[in-house]
Amino acid sequence: MRIFLDTADIEEIREVARWGILSGVTTNPTLMSRTSGMSHEDVIKHIADLVDGPISAETISLDADGMLDEGRRFAKWHPNVVIKVPSIPAGWEAVSRFKKEGIRTNVTLCFSANQALFAALAGAYIISPFLGRLDDISEDGMQLVRDIVDIYRIHEMETLVLAASIRHPLHIIEAAKAGADIATVPYKVLEAATKHPLTDKGIDSFLKDWEKFQGSQRQPAAVAG
Ligand code: G3P
Repeated sequence: MRIFLDTADIEEIREVARWGILSGVTTNPTLMSRTSGMSHEDVIKHIADLVDGPISAETISLDADGMLDEGRRFAKWHPNVVIKVPSIPAGWEAVSRFKKEGIRTNVTLCFSANQALFAALAGAYIISPFLGRLDDISEDGMQLVRDIVDIYRIHEMETLVLAASIRHPLHIIEAAKAGADIATVPYKVLEAATKHPLTDKGIDSFLKDWEKFQGSQRQPAAVAG
C-alpha cells in the first residue's frame, strides 16, 4: 500500500518527502483554503517539485463540461496532476471523457460500493472512499473499503482504491489489511503513526549505555593482582 499525504501545506509535504515514504498528495478545496498567499496553480506546481507521484487537484463544477474545462487546465500544470471529481453522474461522465483525452481522474466523496463500481466502469484511475466520515455517522467506513477492494478484484477492475478521510494511525493499518492500494493521510495522523514510546525509551537507554562505554574507554585499564 502506498502512502499519500492529504494536505496542501508545502512544509508538511517537504518534511514527509524527506522520509522517503511518500508516493503522492491529495488536495481538496478545504485543504486549499488553509493555505495562504499562493494560487491553486502555484500550490500544485510547488507540490509537484517536491513529490514524484500523483497529485490530486479538485474541480468545483457540478456539470461535466465545467469539470472538463477545469481539469484540462489543471492537467497542463504538470503531468502528475490527477483530476478530482465528485461521485455523481456528471462526475462519471467527466471521467469517461477525461479518459479519452488521456487525463487521469480521482473520483472523490465516495460513500457506497455502487458509486465505486460506477467510477471504475467510467474509467477512473482512483476511487476515494471516505471512511472517517462514514465512521462519524455510525457506519463502518473500513467495510466500504473492503467491499470495493473485493468488487474490483472479482471483476478485474484496474481502478486504484485510495482510503481517504483517515482519522487515526489504526486506520492506516486497517486500510493496508483491507487491500487498499493507497492511503491518503493527514500530516498529524502520519506523525502520530511514526511514534512508539518503546522506540524512544530504547534510543534513550542505548545513548546512555554508549556514554558509559565511552567513559570506560577513557579510564586507564586496571592492573590485575
Ligand atoms: O482527501 C479528502 C479526505 O481525506 C477528507 O478527509 O477528514 O475531511 O473527512 P476528512
